[in-house]
Amino acid sequence: MILVIGAGGQVGQELVHNLRQLYGKEKVVASDIREVKELEAPFEKLNALDEEAIKKVVEKHKIKEVYHLAALLSATAEKQIDFAWKLNMQSLFYILDLAKEKVIDKIFWPSSIAVFGPNTPRENTPQHTITDPNTVYGISKLAGERWCEYYAEKFDVDVRSIRYPGLIGYKTLPGGGTTDYAVDIYHQALEKREYSCFLKEDTYLPMMYMEDAIRATIELMQADKKSIKIRSSYNLAGISFSPKEIAASIKEIIPDFKITYHPDSRQNIADSWPKSIDDSSAQNDWGWKCKYNLQSMTKDMIKHLK
Ligand code: SER
Repeated sequence: MILVIGAGGQVGQELVHNLRQLYGKEKVVASDIREVKELEAPFEKLNALDEEAIKKVVEKHKIKEVYHLAALLSATAEKQIDFAWKLNMQSLFYILDLAKEKVIDKIFWPSSIAVFGPNTPRENTPQHTITDPNTVYGISKLAGERWCEYYAEKFDVDVRSIRYPGLIGYKTLPGGGTTDYAVDIYHQALEKREYSCFLKEDTYLPMMYMEDAIRATIELMQADKKSIKIRSSYNLAGISFSPKEIAASIKEIIPDFKITYHPDSRQNIADSWPKSIDDSSAQNDWGWKCKYNLQSMTKDMIKHLK
């Protein structure tokens, strides 16, 4: 039995859908702090900071595998420093401890390109390099990575992780991230034919189409245990582009689309992150390969959002 915590979020809803297709609806318990109308039963209302409640749900459904997605993202975390640290860290310990006690067998926990900071090499950022994150979100993800590796080495915990780039999909909306513009832009392009972007036109960030991200997550979790050599978190490269380039790809389909630029505090966060990622470890260890590029993603996004 599988439990997805934070199932109502951008990744969660799509992941639950795919896991249920793969393993059967009754095998995947979705949970979130709020009721989510898009998520069918089995569903549990669950606060990721309530350790007793997590234990009860795990026991009730005989859960063996947990996808722990609940977190505050980069922009929101800057506004709620204490709570972000608590949610992003404490909830991870609850899940790691369940695996340490051998109550559950396997964990997926997402990390992020936010573990990198202004001292990181920004082009083709290597798997192992200077990190020095300077956002609360990035600090929490880097600390989480270190604890995942620690639990894997000291307590033989089978925890697997990906440093997600900015994720773009048509089924769900992101919340509180710096890469959110790349989802919003499609919605606004279709509704209003114009978009006011909170990042500068030449801000390159690593991004990925949701279909690729979900496939990566499931492939990583299905991979042979021996092939998982990195227990902190795997770099994952998708598509690197700037607001100007994504706007150009939209204009190919919606010629009268217009973009304007009004950078806000999220520009500083974006400026501290890599432009592109080297994911050769993921390719070599568990055979990862990205499918979508900017053009095919834009085509698919617009087709579905229409
Ligand atoms: N998409 C996330 C954010 O912008 C990065 O992991 O916060």
